[in-house]
Parts: sequence; C-alpha cells; structure tokens
Amino acid sequence: MDKKFKRTLVTTALPYANGPVHIGHLAGVYVPADIYTRYLRLKGEDVIMIGGSDEHGVPITIKAKNEGVTPQDIVDRYHKIIKDSMEELGISFDIYSRTTTDIHTATASEFFRHLYDKGEFVEKTSMQLYDEKANQFLADRYVIGECPHCHFDHAYGDQCEKCGTSLNATDLINPKSAITGNTPVLRETKHWYLPLDKWEPALSKWILDGHKEWKTNVYGQCKSWIDLGLQPRAVSRDLDWGVPVPVEGADGKVLYVWFDAPIGYISNTKELLPDTWEKYWKDPESRVINFIGKDNIVFHCIVFPAMLMAYGDNYQLPDNVPANEFLNLEGDKISTSRNWAVWLHEYLRDFEGKQDVLRYVLTANAPETKDNDFTWADFQQRNNSELVAILGNFVNRVLVLTHKYYGGVVPVPNAVTDTETAAYAELAEIKIRLGEYLDTFHFREALKEAMNIARLGNRYLQETEPWKLAKTDMERVATVMNTAVQLCANIAIAFEPFLPFMSDKLARILRMEPMTWDQLGSNDLVAAGTEIGAAELLFEKIEDDAIQAQLDRLARIKEENKLKQWQPAPVQEATDFDTFMKMDIRVGTVKECSRVPKADKLLQFLIDDGMGDRTIVSGIAKYYDPADLVGKQVCFIANFPSRRLKGIESQGMILSAENADGTLVVVGPTGPVTPGSQVK
Ligand code: 2FM
Ligand code: ZN
Repeated sequence: MDKKFKRTLVTTALPYANGPVHIGHLAGVYVPADIYTRYLRLKGEDVIMIGGSDEHGVPITIKAKNEGVTPQDIVDRYHKIIKDSMEELGISFDIYSRTTTDIHTATASEFFRHLYDKGEFVEKTSMQLYDEKANQFLADRYVIGECPHCHFDHAYGDQCEKCGTSLNATDLINPKSAITGNTPVLRETKHWYLPLDKWEPALSKWILDGHKEWKTNVYGQCKSWIDLGLQPRAVSRDLDWGVPVPVEGADGKVLYVWFDAPIGYISNTKELLPDTWEKYWKDPESRVINFIGKDNIVFHCIVFPAMLMAYGDNYQLPDNVPANEFLNLEGDKISTSRNWAVWLHEYLRDFEGKQDVLRYVLTANAPETKDNDFTWADFQQRNNSELVAILGNFVNRVLVLTHKYYGGVVPVPNAVTDTETAAYAELAEIKIRLGEYLDTFHFREALKEAMNIARLGNRYLQETEPWKLAKTDMERVATVMNTAVQLCANIAIAFEPFLPFMSDKLARILRMEPMTWDQLGSNDLVAAGTEIGAAELLFEKIEDDAIQAQLDRLARIKEENKLKQWQPAPVQEATDFDTFMKMDIRVGTVKECSRVPKADKLLQFLIDDGMGDRTIVSGIAKYYDPADLVGKQVCFIANFPSRRLKGIESQGMILSAENADGTLVVVGPTGPVTPGSQVK
C-alpha cells in the first residue's frame, strides 16, 4: 500500500571535504536526489533537500599534515569548491552546510550525551595501535597494512579498498603508522560502543519485514549484515580533530566521524528551519529519504537508525535509502588519491554552460543497479545524437517554423485530427510512466520517457509536414504549429527535474507561467496569440577536439600514476662468477647509425669492436635520432648468437636500461675506453 506523507526530507550523503566532488559522487547521489526533489517541488509537495560537507575524520587530518596546514584550512578550501560547484550544476539544496558549525557541534554533542545518560552505550577498554614516535593512537586510516581477507598490502585501518571489507585497525597484518611509517605498539584505551546487537531484532523487523520494496542492492546488503550478526561499534576515537566526547574523562577523544556525520542531517535541518525542523524528523506523516552511494549503506540502514532508535523521542527512520552502485571512469575505478576522476569544478570550467549535458549523461548512464562506466566517447555521442539531434532539433524546428509562418505569434488552432488526438494520448501515457519511474527512483527510465516526448514531437512533425502544408493549407498549419508549440512546452515541464537550465530557457522563450507537474500533458500551456521569443539553440554539438583534450588529460594521469607506482624489478635468482664470465660484454664505438626501412623500432649500427666492424640491429629507434649516436661508445654482448632482423644479420646485442616510463637509454662507459675492451 502506498503510504501518504505530508512532507519529505531528502538527505544527500555529506561528501568529505578533503577533495572536490567528481562525477561518481554526482551520478550516485546528488543528481538523482536533485531530480527527485525538483519533481516533488513541481508537484507542489512540501519537500526540503539537505546537504553539507563532512569535515571530520582522519583523511582530512592526514592531508593537513602532508600539506603543513590545519585541518580547518583543508575543509575551508574544499567546502567552498564543493558548495560553489554543486550550486553551479543546479543541485538545488535548500541548505548546504558543514559539520564544523557550532550548531552541528552542539547537536552532535547533545545526541551523544543523551544516549550516554540513557545508558545506551557500553564503555569498553581495549588495546589499540599506538605510534610511539608520533605519541598518538592510530585511528582508522592512520594505520596501513595487509588485509586479512584478500591480502592487499595497502588496506586502511577502517576498510580494505580492494575487497571492500570493513576492518578494525588491529585486524591488519603487519600494520604500519601512516604518520611515521613505524610499527605501532598496542596500548590500552577506553571507548564508547553502540551495542548494535541490542537493536538487531528491531532493525531486522523494520528492514527485512517492513521494507521489502527497497532496492535489491540495498535490501541485500542489509540482509547479509543482519544475517552475520551485528556487533557493538565504537563511536569515539583517540584524535584531536572532531566533536569532543562530551563526558568527564574523555580528554583527547572525539566522536567517530560516522557518529557525527549523519547527525549533520539533523543539524542542517535545524539550521535551515530553527522553529519547525522537528516536524521533518519526528512527525509520522513526514518521511526521510537518504540518497547515498553503496559504500554508505550500512551506516544509513543499520548504524544511524540504531542511533535514532536509541535516542527515541519519535525520530523517524528513513522511509527509503535508494543507494546507487559506483560509476567507473573509462573502465577504471574512480579514485581521488590517483586523480582518476572527472572533477566537477574542472568540468564546469572546460565545458562552460553545459551543466545539463553532464546531468543528462550521468542520469542516462546512472549506476542504479550495477556499476557503470563513464566514457568521454559516450558523453559526446549522447550530446550529439540525443540532446542535439533529438531534443534540440525538435524544439528548434518548432521555434523557427513559428517565426517563419506566424512571426513568432502562436497561432489559434483549427479543427484537430486523429493525429493530434493520438499525440496527446501518447503524451498522457508518457506522463503516467514518467511519474511512476520517478516515484520509484528509476531515474534512467524516467529520463528515457521524457526523451520520448521529443521523439513524439519529431514524429509528429515528420507525419504532418507543416512545411509542405504551408503551400496549400494554412488552416491546418495553424493546428499543427499550435500542437508542436504545446509539445515543446510539455518538454519544458517534463525535463525540469533533469535538465533545469534547458527547461528554464525554453520556458522563457515560450513565455510560460511558473510550471507545475499537473500541467504536464496539457494542450494549452502556451496560449494562442502569445508572442514567443527568438529561436535559440538549446544544445550545441561537442567537437572531437574537446573530447580529445579530456582523453589526453586522462592519458597523462595514467602515465603519472604508472611512474608513481613504479618499482625496480625484483633481483633475479643468485648467479655465480663463471656464469657471469660467460657473458662477453664489450665496449665499441659507433661508426654509423641509421634507421631500418619499414621497421619503426629498429636502428642499424656499425660498431668498431677493436677487431673490425660489426653490424648490430637494436630496437631503440623510438628514443634516438641516429645521428646523435655516431661517435658514442656503447656496451654490447659480443657472444650473443647472430640473428637476422628485417633481412640484416645482427651480430650481438647493444645494452640499454629501461626507465620507469618504458623509454630505453643506451648504456656506455663514462670515460673513453679502447674499443673491444671487456666489461668485467
Ligand atoms: O562516504 C562519505 O563520503 C561520507 N562522508 C558520507 C557521510 S554521509 C552522512 F552520514 F553524513
Ligand atoms: Zn581486502
């Protein structure tokens, strides 16, 4: 049964303020949340969308240490970049705040204290990793070591990024401090734990029995957590960055970032609506929807709900948590540390005015049920063949023809035919499906339905051919052009949640009143006699060079990462002197050097080897101009078996060293050597 709610609170995962936001964040969380919120607003519902930066946690302190600045400097920098870029993309937060505000500190402290006073925590002393050189406990990402599950050697103290398992720092094999590289020791410390096991029956009833309608990826993850048995979770850390634990004897301890961050949803609502915030959280006729990525499911479906239940006071649990899977970039996992991402603020700089193109592509390709891939080729193709060729083309034809035949004044329609009736009937069906998809968080399908209005419009023009009718039957043209204008106006409404910039522009050209969802499907959105604005292109083609520039950037990053990850090859098995002596390595002087025709890798050398001239062919043509090698001395293996390369008898092998980037450099003596001398 569909429950009826009076109001909706849409929350969006608070991004960590230790870097800008990228397309993965947008596709997973912010674009779908914005589509949903705009849709509810168009329907006239009471809805607010909450966002903000997550400004605590260990990675922020590590970044600050590395840069020699304070954690506050780091979060100030990225909060601004994130806030400004999301606003520019049209993500219509009612508030975008942060977790370093006073109101948040007070709210999170009070929340902890309330649970503490109610006896909802278990206090436990345990052995934790401590860096004796840095004189501090090593919380979460301050420890790096081998994952006990998949044996990845760079797992963090809170999670292995390779296999995704949540970890305790003490689980790591061969742990090392991320601050000093030291091997930490174990030291006793006290923390507060939320006994999730206590809430397991209630959580199981609420999710597994009560929310079978949740997305299968979300329901499935919750089920496997609950089936495994829930354990108490520490909600404090030994750290000097965060909300201080508000109890006696907790010096040097702060709330765990995952304890304070979701409370950020509450403090942001308070900041937005100081007098009425409670009704969004505590009235059973309100519903909360959490938009998040899949790595946040356990915190939103298990931990935070347990916190809310423990708090009591009528806090409502989320009605739905439509978590998305991950978006990859050109086949590889997006990674902030490897700079493998399309950063929103850079996109906005490189593709000025093309906010809707990104929104469109990320929605059309949203990772709703499985991980998906963003490629620049797909981005270009969707812009050129869908936005320009289908949507932009239809609207442009209608605007141009209205100006051509009617001086831009929308004509009064005459008798409608079956063609118009069929078009409006199809529009009505699209509206129903579009609404159903939006109501159930199927945004990809919803976008396809909105595009179907443009497809319908193109078909309608193709069938009616007003440009031909104009020669014989202007009465009929008036009906056709009026209908076509109404279809454009319907496009402005249907696309508002998805492509708000385009929709706004189109509504302005068509002189539309403020739009509502109810009006979608109408045949009189723009009154006959309205003088519409000049035709403007809604989308423009994206040329190959703009795409190539992005691909070049990614190729550069890949190269840089390769260099960063490069390590010398492991030393080969032990050899002995006699084996070494069997290699007859000598020095020779290059007398001639030239490229081998039809072999772009090969150079042909004529070497003075002290006994005469010797020809050697070597695969280093990509790295040298042959003339530069003439006169140089090189090392070569004199007893390497002769072989024919491109018809040339090669008598030996010239030695080269291979760089981290794969380039080759010929090896030779550092001072003059008599040709034919042996290398020993
Ligand atoms: O995964 C993340 O990026 C977290 N900063 C999300 C926090 S969501 C909420 F709880 F605040
Ligand atoms: Zn692992």
